[in-house]
Amino acid sequence: MERITTVAALGEAVSAAKAEGKSIGLVPTMGALHEGHLSLIRKAKEENDVVFVSVFVNPIQFNNKEDLAKYPRTVDADCEKLESVGCDYVFLPSVEEMYPEPVKEEYHFGPLEEVMEGPRRPGHFSGVAVVVRRLFDLVKPVRAYFGEKDYQQLAIIRNLIEQIHYDIEIVPCPIVRADDGLALSSRNMRLSASARAMAPAIYETLQQAVEMAEYEDVEEVKEWVVETLASFHEVNPDLCPDDLKFEPEYFEIVNAKTLQPIDDWDDAADDGAVGCIAVWLNGVRLIDMVKF
Ligand code: PAJ
Repeated sequence: MERITTVAALGEAVSAAKAEGKSIGLVPTMGALHEGHLSLIRKAKEENDVVFVSVFVNPIQFNNKEDLAKYPRTVDADCEKLESVGCDYVFLPSVEEMYPEPVKEEYHFGPLEEVMEGPRRPGHFSGVAVVVRRLFDLVKPVRAYFGEKDYQQLAIIRNLIEQIHYDIEIVPCPIVRADDGLALSSRNMRLSASARAMAPAIYETLQQAVEMAEYEDVEEVKEWVVETLASFHEVNPDLCPDDLKFEPEYFEIVNAKTLQPIDDWDDAADDGAVGCIAVWLNGVRLIDMVKF
């Protein structure tokens, strides 16, 4: 695997691959890699001749300075993991290399960004779009891989592709979970041991919500999920030491394509419905999703 840190060197590697007629797969990441990321890279390896992975903690998509400062940076461990799954090139640019000039571009996604993460993280999706578009321009992939864990981000990237008319296939990849069901995330390493032990309750609650959806209305299911997590520490005090509790920020049940909240299960009959959640636990914001 070759480590690349400059845009110029990246351009040479891409040109060389293209000259040999090789198809390029791109997997954008912010590092602190885990099995979730590696699943995207394995898939990219299966479907392309060469795979480029970017590891870049993109400052312009963080609307919280503390979150940016606390974001784990584990470059050497990341490179070992990338080698182990057969990544061909890893692009590790500095902020100056990626953004030599102040960023002026802005992207808008209409109703797609008016829900869930959008209003709570102003500028976030525009920041994601700026970096992903730059990576598309530099790497010129045939396919790019994104996880369904960040379900709204995936929808935003699909919309970006339509806005800029690029011929890149966006490949969605299922959520990889720990054995106890917690969705893998770079943020999980910030949970205390007790909080980590509580965290699987998020996915357990979502799975029960899917069962409930067989016979309950959308509104009932939504309320039940929020209530169940918000009262978890009262119902299960033994499982929640140190004043730990879940603080749900939102749980929405939305049309899987438009991401607009549905009132009735029939509203999403064609596209399907997904439930997306953001929950605070132990000062860490966790997100997850299920398909109904
Ligand atoms: P990051 O959080 O590092 O995630 C990189 C990719 O890995 C994303 O597509 C994300 O959805 C996917 N991913 C993360 N955890 C996963 C899991 N448990 N199962 C499956 N896929 C998972 O998302 C970003 O970085 C950034 O916003 C980025 C797109 C790189 C732009 O900066």
